[in-house]
Amino acid sequence: MKKRVAIFISGGGSNMVRLLEDMAAADHPAEPVLVLANDAEAGGLKKAAGMGVQTAVVDHRPFKGDRPAFEQALQAELDKVRPDILCLAGFMRVLTEGFVAPWEGRMLNIHPSLLPKYKGLHTHARALEAGDAEHGCTVHLVTPALDDGPILGQAKVAIQADDTPDTLASRVLTMEHKLYPAVLRRFAEGDRTPVFL
Ligand code: GRF
Repeated sequence: MKKRVAIFISGGGSNMVRLLEDMAAADHPAEPVLVLANDAEAGGLKKAAGMGVQTAVVDHRPFKGDRPAFEQALQAELDKVRPDILCLAGFMRVLTEGFVAPWEGRMLNIHPSLLPKYKGLHTHARALEAGDAEHGCTVHLVTPALDDGPILGQAKVAIQADDTPDTLASRVLTMEHKLYPAVLRRFAEGDRTPVFL
């Protein structure tokens, strides 16, 4: 039986699209069952629907900061499709322990830095400010601590002298699009050995 995968997005969803494209392969051990966004305007929703995948929207704003209520609504959408694996792909809401705990060990996230360096936001600017020689992205298991769980894969890029946060972000995003599908395929096969690109 293929593993059932749900994907949470907040924006354009370029990582989500790469995951769907990879899972379209007949030999892939997983299949997408839902793409959910916390914003009805998220560009990725149309892309997912265009690729034949069920979509849903749970907007966090009407919950006015009531995270448990927002997360109950998220879980209710997941209960309809019963996924085995949950992938966060550019999902910009921080999830509480109440939501994360039942999913621990089967919820993945991609983060645009070489964790544990630069947890949180503005990772590209911070790597440049620090004068780092290399940067990259990480896929990790999600735990209640932000950007902190066991690493399932990393991809590195060299920082160039004339890099800006935008030029660096675009090279890192290219590596994200290779790393996340490689990690998900291995994870869905039950292999936790990290992928390094
Ligand atoms: C990616 O850089 C991801 O690492 C970060 O948000 C960005 C989302 O990109 N969390 P997309 O929506 O997948 O195109």
